[in-house]
Amino acid sequence: MDQALNILIVDDNPDDRALVRREVSREFPNSQFKQATNSRELSEMIEAGGLDAAVTDYQLRWTDGIQVLLAVKRRWRDCPVIMFTGTGSEEIAVQAMKAGLDDYVLKSPHHYSRLASAVHLVLERSRQRQALHAAERRYQSLFDDVPVGLFRVARDGKILDANPALMEMLGYSDRESLLATRVMNFFADSTERRALLDALKRSGMVRFFEARFYRRDGKIIWAAANARVILNELDQTVFYEGSLEDITARREAERSLRESEARKSAILDSALDAIVTLNHRGQITEFNPAAEKAFGRRREDVVGKEMAGLLIPHSFREQHRRGLERYIATGHGAILGKRVELTAMRADSKEFPVEVSITAVSVDGPPMFTGFIRDISERKRAEKQMRDSREQLRALAAYLQSVREEERTRIAREVHDELGQTLTGLKMDLAWLEKRIAAVSDTGELEQCEEKLQELPGRVDSIISTVRKIATELRPPVLDDLGLEAAIEWQIQEFEKRTGITCHFHSSLKHVDLNPVRATAVFRIFQETLTNVVRHAQASQVNIYLREEENKLILEVQDNGRGVTGRELSGTKSLGLLGMRERATMLDGEVNIIGRQGKGTTVGVRIPIHRTDEVQKK
Ligand SMILES: Nc1ncnc2c1ncn2[C@@H]1O[C@H](COP(=O)(O)OP(=O)(O)O)[C@@H](O)[C@H]1O
Ligand SMILES: [Mg+2]
Repeated sequence: MDQALNILIVDDNPDDRALVRREVSREFPNSQFKQATNSRELSEMIEAGGLDAAVTDYQLRWTDGIQVLLAVKRRWRDCPVIMFTGTGSEEIAVQAMKAGLDDYVLKSPHHYSRLASAVHLVLERSRQRQALHAAERRYQSLFDDVPVGLFRVARDGKILDANPALMEMLGYSDRESLLATRVMNFFADSTERRALLDALKRSGMVRFFEARFYRRDGKIIWAAANARVILNELDQTVFYEGSLEDITARREAERSLRESEARKSAILDSALDAIVTLNHRGQITEFNPAAEKAFGRRREDVVGKEMAGLLIPHSFREQHRRGLERYIATGHGAILGKRVELTAMRADSKEFPVEVSITAVSVDGPPMFTGFIRDISERKRAEKQMRDSREQLRALAAYLQSVREEERTRIAREVHDELGQTLTGLKMDLAWLEKRIAAVSDTGELEQCEEKLQELPGRVDSIISTVRKIATELRPPVLDDLGLEAAIEWQIQEFEKRTGITCHFHSSLKHVDLNPVRATAVFRIFQETLTNVVRHAQASQVNIYLREEENKLILEVQDNGRGVTGRELSGTKSLGLLGMRERATMLDGEVNIIGRQGKGTTVGVRIPIHRTDEVQKK
């Protein structure tokens, strides 16, 4: 071995010192020796330090080996000391060992050779001791410095040891008061305490056992305990040791996470709008029940898949993907934060209009997108219907206006042509009579005058009948005088006279008490029906049925003409038909028109005989 040692030799005898040097050098050739021959030298050399070992005689003139041993050890606890003596007894040896002596070699030729191996041995042992001390120091600093609470607890619950982290966690500034508290007093929940103890007894250790503990100030913290049972050789529990980690913040975070998750899912589940959340890759991460309903897809079938491929029609997909890429690249999204109307696609590929509002959320990391989607098919349909019916109403108003104008024109013409002309004739006759009577002188002329006078009542009669005719056409008095049935019969006769189309009237009406408003409505509808027959049907015959059924008046008009087509029926210009329907609807009734190509048209009118609330009253 070429270890260079620093050896202190304490011996009064120079020969013995040489002996030591020789023996040690045999094993450790490069060794340095310091030799103390009096108390002062000894003190200086101990003080100077740097010693690997000391070899001392027992009997010295100025002291003895045990004092030397103590002096060295007082200063250098780990420095090994060997006693090399010929005078010591066994008693001394025992005493020295007790005082910390590392080895003992007899100063006799037989034992000299053991000196080197004794040095070797004690050095080895010293090294081990130092390593142990270092380990202990490391353990201690670990114990003191780890941010985890460490403890050792006796079987009876007495706390034997606690590190600073545990003290801090439990709110103790001095170790003594912590150690004076029984461990059971720290548990905030006795069931948790029992469970922990049971687990310890059952398996000898517990891992990450979460329980609540009291701090000194009475506050409760959550902590995770790791603990194990330390047994003696007889397998009896000596104590428990382990660690405690404050997890209050984590528990709190978990709780608020759970709460916010619960709140979130409550909102998602009860929302009327479809709510779909996407990650930055455009994949679906959230799909609420309303979304399942709107898109006809199940949550588990769509989560993790790309949204565009599932919910957006082909023609819009690329646009969506580009928009997403642009947002990821630039942070700008054209439709974010606004309400937009888009087209979406159901599972069966049907497209439907939606109103969408998308928000981007980013909490550390790539953004997520939440879309609130509302199916607006109904709204769109209603809007269109509203537009259509507004348009129809406007047209109807115009039509009614023009019908009224037409009627006025006709009345004006009749008044002008018929009344005007006959009245003009009458006036001329009167003027003639006046002139003649004034100048009457002979009987011949008087006779002429009388003749003229006799013509006058006939003229007036014709005027009266013209007036009647005009009035009747405006509103047949028969409707007011004799009722609907008679009015229809009259209208049929007029129609036949005017058009030559044969009509058959079948009425099974008994005493129906139809009020004038209802009667007029049915009559006007009937008139419009006949007008349409003349104008459009090219019919040769019309069958008219009038009957009562379940408190409803039913009028049916069948012609044998070309048959109205579906398109003509629904055309926005079919204002005559619309007017008929309007009249019926106002009275809670309805008009049904069926056309069969080449086989004629049937118009069915159905009007409650009494007002609905009157029926209910009865
Ligand atoms: N009895 C019928 N036979 C065949 N076509 C008819 C008949 N009644 C109505 N139509 C068709 O339905 C259309 C709508 O009728 P209507 O609303 O009364 O409008 P109008 O009589 O002013 O043309 C008519 O233009 C005609 O083409
Ligand atoms: Mg018409």
